[in-house]
Amino acid sequence: MSIIEKISSELENFNVNTAEALEKFRMQFLSKKSELQGLLSEIKNVPVEERKNFGQQVNLLKQRAQAIFEEHRARLEASAPTQQSDIDVTRTAATAELGSRHPISLMMDEVCGIFERIGFTTVTGPDIEDDWHIFTALNFPEEHPARDMQDTFFVDQKPDIALRTHTSTLQVRTMEKQQPPIRVICPGRVFRNEVITSRAHCIFHQMEGLYIDKNVSFADMKQTLLYFAKQLFGENTRIRLRPSYFPFTEPSAEMDVSCNICGGEGCALCKHTGWVEILGCGMVDPNVLENCGIDSKVYSGFAFGLGIERMTMLKYKTNDIRLYFENDARFIQQFTAAGR
Ligand code: PHE
Repeated sequence: MSIIEKISSELENFNVNTAEALEKFRMQFLSKKSELQGLLSEIKNVPVEERKNFGQQVNLLKQRAQAIFEEHRARLEASAPTQQSDIDVTRTAATAELGSRHPISLMMDEVCGIFERIGFTTVTGPDIEDDWHIFTALNFPEEHPARDMQDTFFVDQKPDIALRTHTSTLQVRTMEKQQPPIRVICPGRVFRNEVITSRAHCIFHQMEGLYIDKNVSFADMKQTLLYFAKQLFGENTRIRLRPSYFPFTEPSAEMDVSCNICGGEGCALCKHTGWVEILGCGMVDPNVLENCGIDSKVYSGFAFGLGIERMTMLKYKTNDIRLYFENDARFIQQFTAAGR
């Protein structure tokens, strides 16, 4: 068997089923160092009378090798996609589940926005606090019931460290860092050791507001809160302030808004009074200003704290606070769907 016949038979019988085998084939028959290539450079050394015949045979063999190589390559390429994946491009696409924003976040953003438009800045602070920022700096007497184990979640039995029970901690933190004029709004999560019912939860959200400057009066507070109520619940909303008590404000008040469900006529939500309580407020007690390093003879101001869940329940007419913590997508999705 001549060398040409040998190479020819190797060519025809070479098994190519993978990309690696194809590369081996190329090395063996088509590369510069292949036996076949060697024959091509031998042509010039063959005696003249045999040269033409030999040359033709070697060239035919080379063309055949090239053709077989192309055949294998085309076949491998054609079969590659079906070998590697089972993608069905005709199948209907699965719809991607998009998340939606939680109604509490939406409400916090909305309230922050309302106050930012009149010059308030949003600030936040830690959920875990010390006694000074939750109670002492805020003028809570030593024996105040809010300090009680029954109301406050303490951390690791340390009487000094607790989960904040209100966002008024941010009043203290802000005034400790900054001299007036101060205008801040502080959203945050708060914790109280309460029985969970449709109206109360042990975790909820508050928003603290603080305004300190020279000559700030109770009338400034009332006008600011009226602006806020109208922005949130509509132009026709009315407010009323009832005298109240907080250790850190003097005088103190609770604010009601006209019920936006019955328009003030009286319904179950407003317990047929036409009014719904939404926040506590008052003029910051001079003791608190002094505790935080602000001269109470020069400066005065007001603070308010509102419950986010309560406002969300009122605005969206939902009647169970627990819905906000169960994270049932069917409930949560309705708020973004409402186009907000
Ligand atoms: N911190 C009070 C509460 O949690 C609310 C409040 C804030 C009242 C600021 C007056 C001024 O009930």
